Amino acid sequence: MKALVLSGGAGTRLRPITHTYAKQLVPVANKPVLFYGLEAIAEAGISEVGIVVGDTAPEIRRAVGDGSAFGLDVTYIQQSAPLGLAHAVLIAREFLGDEDFVMYLGDNFIVGGIADLVDEFRGSRPDAQILLTKVADPTAFGVAELDISGKVVALEEKPAAPRSDLALVGVFLFTSAVHEAVRGIELSARGELEITDALQWLIDHGRDVRSTTISGYWKDTGNVIDMLEVNRAVLEGIGGRVEGSVDEASEIIGQVTIEAGAEIRGSRIVGPVVIGANTRIAGSYVGPSTSIASDCRIESSEIEFSIVLTGATIQGVRRIESSLIGRNVEVTPATGVPAAHRLVLGDHSKVRISS
Ligand code: TTP
Repeated sequence: MKALVLSGGAGTRLRPITHTYAKQLVPVANKPVLFYGLEAIAEAGISEVGIVVGDTAPEIRRAVGDGSAFGLDVTYIQQSAPLGLAHAVLIAREFLGDEDFVMYLGDNFIVGGIADLVDEFRGSRPDAQILLTKVADPTAFGVAELDISGKVVALEEKPAAPRSDLALVGVFLFTSAVHEAVRGIELSARGELEITDALQWLIDHGRDVRSTTISGYWKDTGNVIDMLEVNRAVLEGIGGRVEGSVDEASEIIGQVTIEAGAEIRGSRIVGPVVIGANTRIAGSYVGPSTSIASDCRIESSEIEFSIVLTGATIQGVRRIESSLIGRNVEVTPATGVPAAHRLVLGDHSKVRISS
């Protein structure tokens, strides 16, 4: 069995971060979200992995390499444009051959891995197996309709009038039957080859499409709120560890990880929190559910429920909350211009100012 990991895409919902960065590399508890998926694939006993990449191919390659760090053998498959999940299957035909495979969306996060699911599929080998979960707003997802026996009868991508509240989770299992399906479908109204259409094609051609409804934790980290929420959940599960230096004037409460080379001076850190290598925190408060990457500087500031990427500086800023702060960003107060905001924001930035 092989795995196909989708790490291309446009990432419009995570702009401006995705203007310069692959969304699959945004860190959750200071580790790229993609790495959790690759670890889950290795744990399921799969070693041959094709990673579909788009414009951000160089970064993904730099981060994952040949996959040996994960116990995987990685082949990169270049997608010319983000033409849909079924398009990714189409272009991976040569890599996949006629083998069964698991397709994993590189920005999805599933607690508990996929080993049980893969075992179940290996035992029964339907043409396709999908994972479903109940969601509050099905209009944002691929949605499945089941009959009373639980059989999948229809699928629709981001329906305006959803026929159920069961959304497709970003893990799919396929036999080689899917190749005929992805060749048999047309581009959708939004110009993509939809995986929901490929699954519908299989159903319409009498193929066996099964579903498992999970109640466990799953998130598509495609937007900021979900990203912060996954970060919170992961931080809650990792214990504390202090390898950096903490001075006497600082207070560390709860589960806090401080990596080697980090310095905490005169600050209060309330976990769960992770602080990356060589980051300096002085005269500040870092509150629960916050990940601060390596080489950051937080001085005379307060921050909580946030993710800060590598190299960022936050200085003299009273309270930052629910924020995703990109690499090498600087957040500082405006001096000498009372009651004025001075902003240099990249395209598609989103700023909420309390004024
Ligand atoms: P999505 O989040 O559905 O799409 P997107 O990345 O274009 O994001 P947005 O909606 O914010 O613009 O994609 C799910 C995963 O699949 C994600 O890891 C990107 C990847 N992907 C591809 O590799 N190729 C594709 O053609 C598409 C559409 C997505």
